Formats: sequence, structure tokens, C-alpha cells
Amino acid sequence: MTKPDLKTVKTPAEPWSPNTWRNKPAKQLPEYPDQAALGRVEEIIGDLPPLVFAGEARHLKAQLAAACNGEAFVLQGGDCAESFQEFGANKIRDTFRVLLQMSVVMTFGGAMPIVKMGRMAGQFAKPRSSDNETQGDVTLPSYRGDIVNKLEFTEEGRIPDPQRMIRAYNQSASTLNLLRAFASGGYADLNEVHRWNLDFVKDSPLSERYEALASDIDSALTFMKACGITGEKVPTMRETDFYTCHEALLLPYEEAMTRIDSTTDDWYDTSAHFLWIGARTQQTDGAQIEFVRGINNPIGMKVPPELDADTLMTLIDTINPENEAGRLSLIARMGCDQLEEKLTPLVRRVKEEGRNVVWICDPMHGNIEKSDSGFKTRRFDNILAEVKGFFNVHRAEGTHPGGVHFEMTGQDVTECVGGAEDIKDEDLSSRYHTACDPRLNANQALELAFLISDELKTLR
Ligand code: PEP
Ligand code: CO
Repeated sequence: MTKPDLKTVKTPAEPWSPNTWRNKPAKQLPEYPDQAALGRVEEIIGDLPPLVFAGEARHLKAQLAAACNGEAFVLQGGDCAESFQEFGANKIRDTFRVLLQMSVVMTFGGAMPIVKMGRMAGQFAKPRSSDNETQGDVTLPSYRGDIVNKLEFTEEGRIPDPQRMIRAYNQSASTLNLLRAFASGGYADLNEVHRWNLDFVKDSPLSERYEALASDIDSALTFMKACGITGEKVPTMRETDFYTCHEALLLPYEEAMTRIDSTTDDWYDTSAHFLWIGARTQQTDGAQIEFVRGINNPIGMKVPPELDADTLMTLIDTINPENEAGRLSLIARMGCDQLEEKLTPLVRRVKEEGRNVVWICDPMHGNIEKSDSGFKTRRFDNILAEVKGFFNVHRAEGTHPGGVHFEMTGQDVTECVGGAEDIKDEDLSSRYHTACDPRLNANQALELAFLISDELKTLR
């Protein structure tokens, strides 16, 4: 098959502005009972300072372009849903440090830069399979994330309240402030690599492997110091780039955060560096797609097993009509059983048609199940299998595996079964804290990083 000329397939794009999504059918948006109150909140947020700077989003895009060419690898991780209650410095620090640990492990294996993005500082809004939830004989609107309503199953709690957007903005601002301080203030210094090992990880079977790697890094640093290469001279040894991302779902909030960048005159959604389209809101004529097509941030889109290749191509060309490398990442979340069968034709088609995308593996969202004890969980083995399958598909197709996307936390939770500690169904109740989907705990996240590191090694 010959490559079609991109210019001949494109139709001229319709005019766009941050509010053109309002003319399109929108899924998964809450119905705010008080529209006037919503309007006032949108105005307030529209006047608040941006959370990220457009130049940072452009840097990230350049790093994603490297991942598109197999010269970098993306690590995206964090909560399924951030919450107002589970918020605090220690929690932010612990998630950040597990991501750092994972990234060190993966850098070592892959011998290439790891692009780090936290599902943090804005990952509040949640799509739901059903608009309502029934408990006993009571039916109420579903919980849609703390930015919309309360998890608490009461009539009052489930009413969408626009004021919660302001609280989410403030929590995002303070989370981001701390992340920036950690990333550039010395915490991420490679000389601290031993200290990133969390206490409860120290007692685990993985600790030895991590400590051995940390010692190798120490030796390399000592050698480099002797050669005169130190953190004072090379800032990348004592600081790191860390980006934020969340699902582009709650459009009234995203629109209010969208501003013109004065350096380029382009629109950027300043609520995060990277925004993604979820599996439930990717209708080609839908509001969320309309919104992201006009913002210049790097964009992600989940790729569920139901998405057919023709629709995928339409979506790719809507979001990335210029075929710019780094603009679009496709986050496949197929489920381990059907990954190879469903992903292969899509990867092949995208390659044949010459579209530049970063392929990222989300081994979480296709592997959700209900445990015998009634908890929503994921089997660690299925998560591992999906990541391995993802690498296999790219190996077979001669394309680049560009990154991974996880739901994880730095806390010692028991939400996913399996892993080196062998968490069992009956253990789930002891520390099951998620407000939404089950997350990997720090040990499981680190174990996965070692597996990815081994896969990356084979690509070198
Ligand atoms: C998520 O990433 O939390 C999510 C809801 O994923 P998906 O849209 O792929 O189901
Ligand atoms: Co989730």
C-alpha cells in the first residue's frame, strides 16, 4: 500500500475556539442544577493564573516526539482519581518518589531518557459506565470525581456542585507547587537514589534488586565526579523534568483554563501539560474531541478494543492534521487476553499510513474484574501479561513501544491482587483506599518497572 498524501485526505478544519465544544453532543458531563452558579465559577476560574506554562507543554511535546522515534520512553502514572480527602504532602512525595524509582530502573534498562508524567495535580473528573448508582432500593446520580460531586452516597452529596472546581484548582496548584519543588529543589538528585526506597519497600523481595541498581548508579556517579562531571555542572543530574496530565473530560473547567500563549499566539489548556481523551468520550463528532483539536498541548487518546481502524484514522487526523510527531499519543488499553489480536491491526494500519504517534500501553483499564470478596480489582499477572504483549506486538510490527500508563500510588495499599508480596483476595479489605479504580502499590509498581526495564534492554 502506498502512503496517501496527507494533504489530500484532509478536509479544511472548521473554525475553533475554546467554547466550540458547546455546539457538539457531549457525553459524561454532569448536569449542574444551578447554571448561573456554574457560569460564575467559570468566570472565576477564567481569571485565575494558569497552572502550567505553554513553553513547558512544548518541551514535553519535543520529548514525546523523541518517544515517537524510539529515542525516549514515557512513564505516566498516578491515581485513578485524586481526592480532596486523600491529599497531603506525604502522599504526593511518595507517589513522586515511586515514579522516580521506576524511572531510574527503566533508564538503566533502556539506556534512554524516561519522560515522566504524573496523573496528578488535576486528575479529578471521572467518566462512569452508568449515570446512576443503586444501593438497595435507593438510586442516585453516580459519583463523577471530587471535582464534580461527593463519593458519599447521599442525595445532597451526589448533586454536582460547581464550587468544587475551585477547590480542585487550588489542590492542583498546591500539588504542582510541591512537585516542582521536588523536581528541581534537590529531592530528585541522582545522589539520593538510595533514599527514594520507601521503608515498606525495603522489607520486600524487590529491595535487593533495587539496592543493587542504586549501588551501580552510585559507582557511576563516583566515577563521573572523579572526571569532573557533577550536579553543579550538569543540572540534569540533580533535577528532573516532571509533567502533569489528566483526562480532558470536564469541559467547563478545561475551557476556563484555556488561554492564548503570548509567545506563539496559540491556545493552550493550562490546567496540565498533557490531556487525554478517555475511552468513553471519543466520538468523532463529540464535544471532547472538538475541544482537544484546538489546544496545542500534547494530547493522548485511549484506544479500547472496540475502536475500529477507520475510526481511529479519522480521530488521528482530527487531532493531529499536521501529523506532527509528539502531538498525539495513543494509549492502548485492550485487556491482556485480546491485546495482540486487537492492537496488531491498529499498529499496522497507523504505520502503513505513515501517521506519527507515540504508542503507550495502559495495562490497567482492560483488566478490571470483581473479586470473589466483591472488590473491584486487577490481577498483577494480567497487568504484566498486557505489558509483555504490548512489547511483542511492536517487536513483530517493527514499530516503537513508546511508553506505559499506570494507576499507582506510593502508599502501601492492597487494591490489586498478586505481585511479589502475593496479595490475595482476602487481603484486599485491609488497605483498599481508592476512590475509583484499584491501583498498584509501590512494590507492585517497582516490580513492573523491572519487567519493563528487561523488555527495554532487549530493544537496545
Ligand atoms: C482512566 O484512565 O482512569 C480511565 C477511565 O480510562 P479509560 O477511559 O481508558 O476507561
Ligand atoms: Co481508572
